Amino acid sequence: MINVKAQAYVFDAYGTLFDVHAAIARHRAEAGPEAGRFSEIWRGKQLEYSWTMTLAGQYVDFWTLTERALDYAFACVPSVDRALRSRLLEAYLKLDPFPDAPNALTELKSRGLRLAILSNGSPRMLDAAVRGSGMGGLLDAVFSVDVVRAYKPRPEVYALVTDSLNIAAPEVVFVSSNRWDIMGAATFGFRPIWVNRAGMPDEYTDQRPAQVVADLSALPSLTL
Ligand code: 2OP
Repeated sequence: MINVKAQAYVFDAYGTLFDVHAAIARHRAEAGPEAGRFSEIWRGKQLEYSWTMTLAGQYVDFWTLTERALDYAFACVPSVDRALRSRLLEAYLKLDPFPDAPNALTELKSRGLRLAILSNGSPRMLDAAVRGSGMGGLLDAVFSVDVVRAYKPRPEVYALVTDSLNIAAPEVVFVSSNRWDIMGAATFGFRPIWVNRAGMPDEYTDQRPAQVVADLSALPSLTL
């Protein structure tokens, strides 16, 4: 246990607060039997592009990467009709929050904690998602990687939180469903909580989470 009081809870957005598969879920009947595989490819490529561009010292915003990844998914899964493209992108701007998200944030906020998002998402994407979820009033800040023009898990991304909120890394509880994001947050010195919604095996064993939860409803009862 780290002997520093948590001052802020900072959440990853996509996959943690917002369900990235909610876009295809809205059009599942039209997308057909390969909808699930299609959505996995879309998400996988979106993340891969963020890592490879950052390794190459390049930056293209997350919305553009989301569009490119979607086009790749269409190329991989020809049974999904390309006519869905604009509707899927529109749905991506209004992804459903996971049902456990609003209550968990409300409870943490009532304890006087500062709450924020730190995401790869572009400011426009994050603004639309937060407004659509109704959680905007609970958040003290929404940080986009866009200002540093590099993606997670680069340390300068996590430093946006400590620099902007003027707090030390161990005072930040960082919550993500992406195990690689937990790796980056642990390396930076945050107290990471892995939301292992899918029951995945652990990895990055040199950079472990402080706690693992199945969903966000467990957060308020954790002793940190
Ligand atoms: C996010 O930064 C990685 O999708 C993830 O919101």
